[in-house]
Amino acid sequence: MNRLSRWTLRKRLVVAVVALLALAAVIIGFASVVSVQTVLLGRVDAQLTAATTRSSGAAEERPGRFPPSSEPPVPEFVGAPGQSAGTLGAIIAGGAVRYAGYLDASGDLQPLTTGQVSTLLNVSLGGRPQSIDLGGDLGSYRVVAVETGNGAMIVGLPLADLEFTLGQLIAGISGVALGVLVLAGTASYFIVRLALRPLDRVAKAASDVSELPLDRGEVALGVRVSDDDADPNTEVGRVGASINRMLGHVSAALHARQASENKVRAFVSDASHELRTPLTSIRGYAELTRRSGEDLPEDATYALGRIESEAVRMTAIVEDLLLLARLDEGRELAKDPVELSALLTSAVSDARAASADHEWVLDLEASPVTVIGDSQRLMQVVANLLGNARVHTPAGSRVETRLSVVGEKAEIAVMDNGPGIDPAVLNHIFERFVRGDASRQRASGGTGLGLAIVAGVAEAHAGTVVVESVPGRTEFRVMLPLAGSAKGRVAAKREELT
Ligand SMILES: Nc1ncnc2c1ncn2[C@@H]1O[C@H](COP(=O)(O)OP(=O)(O)O)[C@@H](O)[C@H]1O
Ligand SMILES: [Mg+2]
Repeated sequence: MNRLSRWTLRKRLVVAVVALLALAAVIIGFASVVSVQTVLLGRVDAQLTAATTRSSGAAEERPGRFPPSSEPPVPEFVGAPGQSAGTLGAIIAGGAVRYAGYLDASGDLQPLTTGQVSTLLNVSLGGRPQSIDLGGDLGSYRVVAVETGNGAMIVGLPLADLEFTLGQLIAGISGVALGVLVLAGTASYFIVRLALRPLDRVAKAASDVSELPLDRGEVALGVRVSDDDADPNTEVGRVGASINRMLGHVSAALHARQASENKVRAFVSDASHELRTPLTSIRGYAELTRRSGEDLPEDATYALGRIESEAVRMTAIVEDLLLLARLDEGRELAKDPVELSALLTSAVSDARAASADHEWVLDLEASPVTVIGDSQRLMQVVANLLGNARVHTPAGSRVETRLSVVGEKAEIAVMDNGPGIDPAVLNHIFERFVRGDASRQRASGGTGLGLAIVAGVAEAHAGTVVVESVPGRTEFRVMLPLAGSAKGRVAAKREELT
């Protein structure tokens, strides 16, 4: 990109207008000066002809007094009646200047310097007026050389007046042109600015849209270019109208996406819900048959046991899916005060009961820590984290659960000294169905939904969850806004709305 194309449109338009006006001013000024000069020169030439006639007349009246017969020459022809101040005259005879002088302001004859005289010698004969520069006090002259019997007579008139007039003219034109340029530059700056203002507004609308979070949730794409800026009869209006059309399309597409997403969620939630009953039946019948059927062959008993345990596993998956679907739908969360110390105490004792092979440590705050939310879901969060620490670490590992208050937040940390999380999945460990490779191979592996639920519940409580994991140290930290904190109130309100 060159410098010019980086200029703003405004700057380019203003510069172009000013440059064109300047060019026009130069052309008009030049033409005016040339034509005035032609007219004035014509007039000087006419005066020169008149002066020449007077001089010749004077020369004829006193022929005897003209060179070469008279020595020194008496240049009365210069002072002939009617000659104006500055009139110059010279007599050339035999290639040499016999006399040269001019009338000064008071009408007296003044001699020329030798330099000026030699300039006069270069004047060509033929009666055609020409301009020469005599320098010194005299400056430019219009001279004509006419042949006399034995030489030539040069008559000249000063061009000082003409030059002065032209100077005045040029100064006048330049001044006016400069003023007009400044005026035009300022005016065009404001006109262009005014004309481009709708474009700024259109750009603003576009950038407003670009700041909207369009990637998820119900998107209200309410931003539009105003009707005034979307008039298709103007250039900017066409841009505005196109942007509005585009926003309309995008909005419709987002609505369609949201609708289909809602449909899928509702479907998953309905399907999970519907699956619960038959799964319970399968489990119940399998258990019943296994218990009552003493005469069943051994492999049938084994098969029934597997059916039962798989039904239990499937029920867990379906429950998790149902919970996730409901979290996605943004519903079903209580907003009661939940005291986390008590919650952690019971969660850790559950975990201790489930695995005596691990060392369970609990570290609580001295005072109660209360958040607003759904105690059952929060219990599930802690249970999932403790369950992972139990399932994904070898026997004998130490699991520490710590509750603390950090700023306006309650922080629940679950740490273990197990092998850590596979670095390949660490970055998307909170996504659904993401499991470490080791877990996959394990026959009793989980579903990969546990941490997704942790993240979903934390988010629904306006909280966050982070993980740090290296071999020998894995730490999950769940941050929840404390009851009474600004964020906690927002979370409570949000739940109220849904
Ligand atoms: N404390 C932990 N130590 C090691 N790996 C863990 C730990 N917690 C979670 N993981 C890894 O994260 C994966 C996802 O966990 P989760 O979502 O609970 O699924 P699941 O436990 O059903 O496999 C697990 O499969 C496991 O590989
Ligand atoms: Mg798990």
